[in-house]
Amino acid sequence: MGTQFGHIYRQLTFKPKPLPLGIRLDGQTAIVTGAGNGSLGLEAAKELAAHGLARLILAVRNTAATNAEAAKQQILEQSSPEPVACDVQIWEVDYESFESMAAFATRARAELDRLDVVILSAGVKKLEFVRTKTGHESNIQVNHLGTAYLSLLLLPSLRQTARQTGRKSRLTIVASEVHFWTPFSERSAPLILQRLDEKSSFGEKGDMERYNTSKLLNVLWMRELSSQVSPASASVSSGKSPVTINAVNPGFCTSALHRSHVMPGQAFINHVLAWTPTQGGYCLTNAACGHHDRQGAYISEQEVKPTSSFVTSAEGEKSQKRLWDETVTLFQDVDRSFDLKYLLGS
Ligand SMILES: NC(=O)c1ccc[n+]([C@@H]2O[C@H](COP(=O)([O-])OP(=O)(O)OC[C@H]3O[C@@H](n4cnc5c(N)ncnc54)[C@H](OP(=O)(O)O)[C@@H]3O)[C@@H](O)[C@H]2O)c1
Repeated sequence: MGTQFGHIYRQLTFKPKPLPLGIRLDGQTAIVTGAGNGSLGLEAAKELAAHGLARLILAVRNTAATNAEAAKQQILEQSSPEPVACDVQIWEVDYESFESMAAFATRARAELDRLDVVILSAGVKKLEFVRTKTGHESNIQVNHLGTAYLSLLLLPSLRQTARQTGRKSRLTIVASEVHFWTPFSERSAPLILQRLDEKSSFGEKGDMERYNTSKLLNVLWMRELSSQVSPASASVSSGKSPVTINAVNPGFCTSALHRSHVMPGQAFINHVLAWTPTQGGYCLTNAACGHHDRQGAYISEQEVKPTSSFVTSAEGEKSQKRLWDETVTLFQDVDRSFDLKYLLGS
């Protein structure tokens, strides 16, 4: 796993499969973030709706800019394997605003009588240093801080639904194989997040390293979050860990994510190597609807696979804990009502 050669080989030889027809989501509610036109999130949302989902929240940054109504129509117009009868709602959420994410989670708690499935797919790949209005570097703000904040804020709704239904709810974080491909040298700084916000740590314009690091942070965060909600001492059957939390690598797929990363011969590379957004969406739904017995897993090519060796090393585990502590402290600083114990159900 993790070498560039291996990545190319798997892109060429593996083709993601749709959910088996027998998987039914009748009565269930799902939230999919990053579900704008052409995105993997939208493709995953379409597939969930086609499997009997009762209610779908398409979470998009800007309803007008993403043409969310058109995305909704694409979902409702599907007729295979059966006509879709799903209450599709479009809600706005901006990962570059903690207030927007908090309002989104509050709305979810107020308006959704259940929440069974969450797929956190919103993401950016910025190859030059850009600071968002929160003051944090863009890849880190959206891919790590946004994903981590929402993953915590939506936990109570997921947990409550699991108690109501007696079935585990699902939280899926969209990571990437590129988490293997970063030296993550910022881990030796006194404060990891602060170092990642410094322009001098970004590297050359056009470098993918910060994006790759943000995807490593997705994996580290997912692992720590799942261990926080299901400590080793709690038996899964005791109901103490009612939310299954995993991360998924959707593979290299054509999408707007790569809009600012165009190499010579890109069209040819895409043609030969890339999966379609629909196939990437299959990877997301496989992770969100399968693998019931796994917790804290990394799913790639629709199977549980090892993470990078850094993640499971002593150094990786230390970085994981530090990242958790720094991230939680940051959330406590920006959100006075942030109550970690309540969110984790501890
Ligand atoms: N495509 C690949 O090859 C690939 C490979 C590995 C992992 N991934 C991961 O898969 C996920 C989905 O990527 P994709 O390929 O579907 O890319 P995409 O088509 O660019 O979709 C990303 C979505 O995230 C949304 N988004 C960006 N910034 C946001 C913000 N501040 N607040 C809320 N939403 C925001 C975008 O909204 P707008 O439409 O408003 O920009 C878009 O709908 C990402 O996490 C990415 O890292 C993708």
